[in-house]
Amino acid sequence: MILIDGKKVSASIQEKIAAEVKELANAGERPPHLVAVLVGDDPASQTYVRNKINACKKVGFKSTLIHLEPYTSEAKLLQVIAGLNADSEVDGYIVQLPLPSHISQQKVIEAIHPSKDVDGFHPMNVGRMVLNLPAYVSATPYGIMQLLEHYRIETSGKHCVVVGRSHIVGSPMSILMARNTPIGNATVTLCHSKTQNLKEITLTADILIAAIGRPWFITADMVKPGAVVIDVGINRVDDNTSPGGYKLMGDVDFENVKARCSYITPVPGGVGPMTIASLLKNTLLARKKIIY
Ligand code: GUN
Repeated sequence: MILIDGKKVSASIQEKIAAEVKELANAGERPPHLVAVLVGDDPASQTYVRNKINACKKVGFKSTLIHLEPYTSEAKLLQVIAGLNADSEVDGYIVQLPLPSHISQQKVIEAIHPSKDVDGFHPMNVGRMVLNLPAYVSATPYGIMQLLEHYRIETSGKHCVVVGRSHIVGSPMSILMARNTPIGNATVTLCHSKTQNLKEITLTADILIAAIGRPWFITADMVKPGAVVIDVGINRVDDNTSPGGYKLMGDVDFENVKARCSYITPVPGGVGPMTIASLLKNTLLARKKIIY
């Protein structure tokens, strides 16, 4: 069994990005600028946004955090977004999800200009990704593709089972794995909450991608011996013995599943760090105006 080291791969990508920022500076150009918009005080979202801002600093990007209070109106948020769309000093920005329930997530995503949508959530980017046209690809699926590439994991002709159909991970992941690209060309099955014979299907997976959001949902009896298992879950579970009062658990019962796999990602230290590296990559693409 090979443990996929997302931390190491992410660090090497970030080194390359930092070198490109230096090249920009040497050419007298400004660094990439990422803005993160956070509405409210959800602790997990605060952590994610803080990590993104810190990663920007590490590679030499300019970054700005716009932290809005929980009762910010939808109109006010849309105004902030219009300002970011118009600001030529902002290369890309993200609006951290989930948003408070009084704000329409869809309206907000559609208000982000596709050329600055480094999360790849706008229908224009999703559509272009489906059609294999240049697009911002959302960070977590993009990060998983880079892990598969780094470890030279064969995907062509393999059966890839994605469990979970979220717009952020499962759905784009299933599209990317099926596309006719060097990492891709898999036969893909997308499973979700209405899937009836889940275990029967996961047992046929050469590559199993768990993006359900339920701790230890994938157990050893669901995994084909020799499978590649990618765990996207970052579930906060109450734990009095941990300093923060919670521990992070993946969607995969790692300890029992690992013995059956050829490759597996740990939680933390697997997919998570790759998400940040992908966001930085997209922001660099935005600065260099490569997609649009
Ligand atoms: N919430 C969970 N994942 C993400 C992400 O990749 N981007 C944003 N904006 N919000 C998220």
